[in-house]
Amino acid sequence: SAPLPQRICCIGAGYVGGPTMAVIADRCPAITVTVVDLNAARIAAWNDPDLSRLPVYEPGLDQVVGRCRGRNLFFSTAVEEAIAAADMVFLSVNTPTKTRGLGAGQASDLKWVEASARTVAKAAQGHTIVVEKSTLPVRTAEAVKAILGAGVAGKSFSVLSNPEFLAEGTAIGDLEHPDRVLIGGDDPAAIDVLAAVYAHWVSPERILRTNLWSSELSKLTANAFLAQRISSINGIAAFCEATGADVREVARAIGADSRIGPKFLQAGPGFGGSCFQKDILNLVYLCRHYGLEEVAAYWEQVVRLNTWQQHRIARLVVTRLFGTVTGKRLAILGFAFKADTNDTRESPAIRIARDLLEEGAQLMIVDPKVSERQIGLDLGQPAGEGEGSWRLVASVEAAALGADALLLLTEWEQFAALDWMAIAAVMRQPAWLFDARGRADEAAARAAGLNVWRIGQG
Ligand code: NAD
Ligand code: UGA
Repeated sequence: SAPLPQRICCIGAGYVGGPTMAVIADRCPAITVTVVDLNAARIAAWNDPDLSRLPVYEPGLDQVVGRCRGRNLFFSTAVEEAIAAADMVFLSVNTPTKTRGLGAGQASDLKWVEASARTVAKAAQGHTIVVEKSTLPVRTAEAVKAILGAGVAGKSFSVLSNPEFLAEGTAIGDLEHPDRVLIGGDDPAAIDVLAAVYAHWVSPERILRTNLWSSELSKLTANAFLAQRISSINGIAAFCEATGADVREVARAIGADSRIGPKFLQAGPGFGGSCFQKDILNLVYLCRHYGLEEVAAYWEQVVRLNTWQQHRIARLVVTRLFGTVTGKRLAILGFAFKADTNDTRESPAIRIARDLLEEGAQLMIVDPKVSERQIGLDLGQPAGEGEGSWRLVASVEAAALGADALLLLTEWEQFAALDWMAIAAVMRQPAWLFDARGRADEAAARAAGLNVWRIGQG
């Protein structure tokens, strides 16, 4: 079998780099894994003795980090030193949508990938396997190779693509039991080394090998297909509301067809998260670049429908509350883009809350993991009082006090079993529950006297 790398360095200690490397270190005690980042505060948080204060919240992550940190898992800001010592370097840096210049609003901003590749070119010693872990436009490996190839004599590199398919909130389970691991490359020996790492806990038939471009493109395609299912069911949810059908029943009926399958058919306030929108827009940009306008327009519609769904929910709340929410208190249940994460990137709650603030509402936000500071950044204004303001409160009961409506936006477990009698008693009547996730105990809410709107219920 192929030799194992002795030392792995991962550039980028984010939602992907941190959990991914923690699981590799946990499963491969013989490999020393160092995760580096330029963000000193983030590295300090990864090194915090109090494991409840890691910078990424993921169920089970604290235990994995607790087992390996200081043994064969290290977090450091000494980027060049860690690269120099490593025989395998993962690039796990951010690749957000460009905000200006060529391709602004669609193309991926590759400046962090380029910068980290340049640092690798400079600091690496001997032969180094460079692994693209970030989600990248197809053919990025060409640029990475060109940057590395311009290095000093005596250094050599193999470039692999190994995209990550974990979902936030279930990252540890996804990493420990992946559906598949994808490795793209043109150097069979390098592929063998990376496959040998995963073979510690992933069965061989789940380790797929492809060429570089297929691997890079499979990641964008997987996210596009997943997001497309959500936009499809959300579009049908709106149609259900208009026609008296119920999207839950429709989802169950179509999901029973084994060719369609039951997963990813939960209608909601639109998909959030740092990747779906970014990756589809990137795909759209690339399709246009290659002159495939119809293909670009097809995928672009998935994002358009998602944006529409978010504005639609804010609009229907205003409509049901007699056409105005100015000065009204509205309780927002959940701000994270999904349950079991502290991540708010592209959370549907942001767009919905912004629309309601614009209408003059007073938002009382409850979320078990998101900080007040983060919400302030996302809403573009600090917490406050009065028309068009928001506050973070500790409990649903506190948020409901004097409120005209509750909006369930994130499917946190605790929102599924609330004391609706107690909540309804402190609200201003007539009071509403807008369940954009379809997760609340609707019968109990109705029994407590609330009007209930549920996503996709006609
Ligand atoms: P993130 O923003 O949480 O983390 C990226 C980190 O890289 C940051 O801490 C940043 O400071 C660091 N960084 C940037 N440039 C650097 C440099 N030159 N040297 C050292 N550190 C540097 O991002 P993330 O959510 O972990 O995503 C990383 C990549 O993985 C993206 O391409 C994303 O599309 C992809 N991805 C993300 C997820 C997810 O669930 N978040 C899942 C699969 C794939
Ligand atoms: C997604 C993919 O699921 C991962 O495979 C991928 O690695 C990752 O993107 C990435 O590339 O970043 P993530 O965004 O963390 O993972 O979470 P998902 O579970 O996919 O949820 C995304 C959004 O869709 C959330 O807002 C979620 O609430 C929403 N969603 C999901 C629905 O509205 N309905 C569903 O049926 C499923």
